[in-house]
Amino acid sequence: MTTKKRQPIVIAIDGPSASGKSTNARMVAKILNYLHVDTGAMYRTLGWYCLKNGIDVNDSLAVTKACRRWKATLQSSEGQVRLVVDGYYPAQEIRTSEVSAAVVHVAAVPKVREWMKRIQRECAQFGDLVMEGRDIGTNIFPESDFKYYLDAKIEERTRRRAAEGVTENLEARDRRDSQRATSPLMIALGARVINNSEMTAEQTSRLIIEDIEARLKLPRS
Ligand code: DC
Repeated sequence: MTTKKRQPIVIAIDGPSASGKSTNARMVAKILNYLHVDTGAMYRTLGWYCLKNGIDVNDSLAVTKACRRWKATLQSSEGQVRLVVDGYYPAQEIRTSEVSAAVVHVAAVPKVREWMKRIQRECAQFGDLVMEGRDIGTNIFPESDFKYYLDAKIEERTRRRAAEGVTENLEARDRRDSQRATSPLMIALGARVINNSEMTAEQTSRLIIEDIEARLKLPRS
């Protein structure tokens, strides 16, 4: 008798910049022993690739072409699924202010989002995932039973970014991410909204974990 392999579970964590997605997605993935996927890093990698190769990020046709041609593949290592370009993951390079400024443009290109959707869905071949981004619950894995939308007051999010040594106009980025035509940042249907302005990362991830464990009927960790 053959036993049917169960579908991988995808925990979708969406929200605006500095809402605690990365910290919490990492914590939840670690506790559940799932793979962590940072989809923002994938868009940043394309932004970095364009800058490095002299491709104008405001030219959506040129960005689409680059995205069709670049040698980007998925790699699973150290508890993460990452997009690597020619086998290289530009961990430091994608966090510069130049890339932060470029990424909003590449992320608004419809053909780029199509490409990203395909590759992000392929991440499930590696196993159960905690995937963070802006459109995971609405567009990438809308069928997920586990959707969370993190948020925090703008003052608190700005303070968090400053503590990381980054000065950024978050309101402008939020506006761009929420108002773009293709897959804007939105609260997914059925998502649990967590405003963590007054909460620590431990408290936020505990809330998520308890919710998942109760719904999957797992023993409490
Ligand atoms: O989460 P982050 O700041 O690293 O994301 C970088 C940019 O990519 C941000 O401006 C929004 C965009 N993004 C997106 O449009 N969709 C995603 N799933 C993830 C990020």
